[in-house]
Amino acid sequence: MGTYVITGGASGIGAAIKLQLQSEGHRVMVVDLQQADIVADLATAEGRSNAVIAIEEAAGGDLAGLVACAGVGSHIPNPELITAVNYFGAVELVEGLRQLLADNRASVLLVSSNSAPMPTNPDFVQALLSGDENAACAIAANMESQPVYSGSKQALTRWMRHNTQSYAAQGIRMNAIGPGYTKTPLSAAVEDNPTYGEAIKHFIATIPIGRPGLPQDMADAASFLLGDKSGFICGAMLFVDGGHDAMLRPDEF
Ligand SMILES: NC(=O)c1ccc[n+]([C@@H]2O[C@H](COP(=O)([O-])OP(=O)(O)OC[C@H]3O[C@@H](n4cnc5c(N)ncnc54)[C@H](O)[C@@H]3O)[C@@H](O)[C@H]2O)c1
Repeated sequence: MGTYVITGGASGIGAAIKLQLQSEGHRVMVVDLQQADIVADLATAEGRSNAVIAIEEAAGGDLAGLVACAGVGSHIPNPELITAVNYFGAVELVEGLRQLLADNRASVLLVSSNSAPMPTNPDFVQALLSGDENAACAIAANMESQPVYSGSKQALTRWMRHNTQSYAAQGIRMNAIGPGYTKTPLSAAVEDNPTYGEAIKHFIATIPIGRPGLPQDMADAASFLLGDKSGFICGAMLFVDGGHDAMLRPDEF
């Protein structure tokens, strides 16, 4: 049994992963804006570095895994916030905790999205991958929120793949899940949004498995990817989306 840290663990998918890991006997520390063991705003560089310091202090040297789940949805009319939380709020936590993760030969799970392969602005993705938050936010400011959201998740997934080898060399396994539409407060807000609501309802109706995802679907995948039974799975992006990605992109994998 070990200690896991989950960002965004106060709600939705993160809360389900927290309950799953606790039910398996693990100690779980939540990092979130509220209802958290460590209250931190991952939208700011200061909030991220404070979170890293607080996690290191609270972990006491024991860290079996990190789940970077905190995120905001495409309904938020603030492309800079989506950029800051969804990409930098994940990557900077993983980077900041790298030594502690290596000391424990720990697992990292990034919560991406099945929107990650969708069309976006390649310059935005490159700015993210180069780690230039100011440049990425400047590009995002002139984009619609949806491609900023999908671009943030594409960059997050590509960052994982770029770094899979060097992290694995230190004993750290990184994987990602790509949730499809999943019933949470975030997706309810997108569904209610006047700009995106109709498209999302159509999207839900086309999920091959015939139902929307539930937070527990994500928690089951997270438990597998974080644990020993997935010991040879490394750098993988697992779509947990009822078959949507396969339906939409049958020839790309
Ligand atoms: N719900 C879906 O359909 C869906 C689909 C694909 C991907 N995702 C991804 O799954 C993750 C979880 O989403 P969810 O649906 O559970 O949403 P949610 O809104 O229920 O939970 C998100 C959590 O992130 C936290 N958070 C947001 N901004 C933060 C900040 N600045 N600092 C710290 N914490 C912050 C929130 O407080 C909240 O607890 C997100 O990364 C989201 O992009 C969700």
